Amino acid sequence: MATGLGRKTPRKCGPDSMTRLLEMQGISMGFPGVKALSDVSISLDRGEVLGIVGENGAGKSTLMKILAGVFRPDAGQLHLEGVPFSPRRPKDALDAGIIVIHQELSLIPERSVAENIFLGHLPRGRLGGIRRAALNREASRLLARVGLSVSPRTLVRRLGIAQQQLVEIARALSREARVIVMDEPTATLTTAEQRILFATIATLRNAGVGLVFISHHLEEVFEICDRVTVLRDGAAVETRATKDWTEDALIQAMVNRPIEALFPARHATLGEVLLQVEGLSSAGRFEDVSFELRAGEVVGLGGLIGAGRTEVLKTIYGALPATKGKIHVESRERHIRSPRQALSAGVALVPEDRKGEGLVMPFSLRTNVAMSTLTKVSWLRSILAQGRIDRLAEHAVEDLRIRTPGIRQLVRSLSGGNQQKVVLSRALTTKPRIFLLDEPTRGIDVGAKVEVYRLINALAERGAAILVVSSDMLELLGLCDRVLVMRTGRIAGMVAKADFSQERIMALAALG
Ligand SMILES: Nc1ncnc2c1ncn2[C@@H]1O[C@H](COP(=O)(O)OP(=O)(O)OP(=O)(O)O)[C@@H](O)[C@H]1O
Ligand SMILES: [Mg+2]
Repeated sequence: MATGLGRKTPRKCGPDSMTRLLEMQGISMGFPGVKALSDVSISLDRGEVLGIVGENGAGKSTLMKILAGVFRPDAGQLHLEGVPFSPRRPKDALDAGIIVIHQELSLIPERSVAENIFLGHLPRGRLGGIRRAALNREASRLLARVGLSVSPRTLVRRLGIAQQQLVEIARALSREARVIVMDEPTATLTTAEQRILFATIATLRNAGVGLVFISHHLEEVFEICDRVTVLRDGAAVETRATKDWTEDALIQAMVNRPIEALFPARHATLGEVLLQVEGLSSAGRFEDVSFELRAGEVVGLGGLIGAGRTEVLKTIYGALPATKGKIHVESRERHIRSPRQALSAGVALVPEDRKGEGLVMPFSLRTNVAMSTLTKVSWLRSILAQGRIDRLAEHAVEDLRIRTPGIRQLVRSLSGGNQQKVVLSRALTTKPRIFLLDEPTRGIDVGAKVEVYRLINALAERGAAILVVSSDMLELLGLCDRVLVMRTGRIAGMVAKADFSQERIMALAALG
């Protein structure tokens, strides 16, 4: 790709090339029961991309929220172009040209794409009214830059999570930026969108902007970053130029324990057909989708953003209406019209949007894990079951290495990846036979990914059937027995394990 990503040395420019664009020194910050950051120092030059990696809960987002004026540190200083800088609120950071795209997206669902992009600096006419034509024209230009083909007038609530991510990036581009931070920008993007994002990053870097790139996709970190800092347990353990890191060294620095194979072997035998989907359609979303899932099988569902993968899962789960087609569960025809009916038929869904659909943020980890089982027992029995619920939650924390001071911690205060683990463990407690997993490892660190893959394998070995939507091509290839590929609302083809290659899947996803 001619993205101009070849240049790996930081560019020094401007009149005062000795001062760094940004310095954060000796930053410490604690939350009740958690030391999130202790004495962390990082620096950033103009035209440089700094990668920050680390396990879930290592403190990456907290550090960036301090830069963004969301949190105030307990100790430490910031300097911007050599000048002391202490943002007290997000506006201070924005005014200084620091733009942070947060991990948990923050768009306003009831406003249009264009209004969201220009929120806070909408173009206004002399009488104070919004200049709609100019707004939509400018928005269209930015949408083209991030490769998102939706109308600027579309309401944000109509967009999928990946599309929202691209709108957030367009919003960052709409401002005059000195520093842009991307906290897990590619977690939901497929390869094609990721390429466009990387081209955009290259352009920004060439214009002298300093970028911070946070990702659990280490191959991306290697490709795009000039230097990489590893955070572990709230401390910056090491910073090196990218060329001086190897993937093994990086993982070792992150997790501080040996990791064997990323994709552990699965020893499942294929059994009877558990789920049969025949000519399933949901008008305006997807058409004529047919496939089977067998006991012990892990099947991938690939495709580009907007191809209809999430919609297929939601329709099987009864969260979107089917307009045509049949669903058989264990050879019995089922008319699933609600998630409740799906669960009682033994079908569970782990949604991609954990904030919107997966979790009850103001509740504890313990309650969130147990929620689906709680509805099954009466109130009195649920009081008696307290001990059992405690054990359920404790197991979840242990099995998935959820980083938390305790099971009574509010889910809202867990790191992004740890929230994802709570969503996963909840689905597991309902003991379904058919799992629909939508981006199950989104935002999850390498160490925990292996745990999730192990869990998926264990489920398959116990006779469950699993359908996985993933934008991570390596995950589809490493985890699945075969991959169905969707393109514009239809199944474009199936790739068997013997024929697995990124090119095959991409070709089907893009060309059909
Ligand atoms: N608002 C908050 N209240 C209490 N604790 C918090 C809060 N925000 C973060 N923490 C805790 O601070 C620690 C660092 O969290 P942070 O979100 O910075 O991790 P992260 O490195 O971004 O992880 P991830 O890869 O999962 O996004 C975690 O233990 C987390 O639970
Ligand atoms: Mg984070």
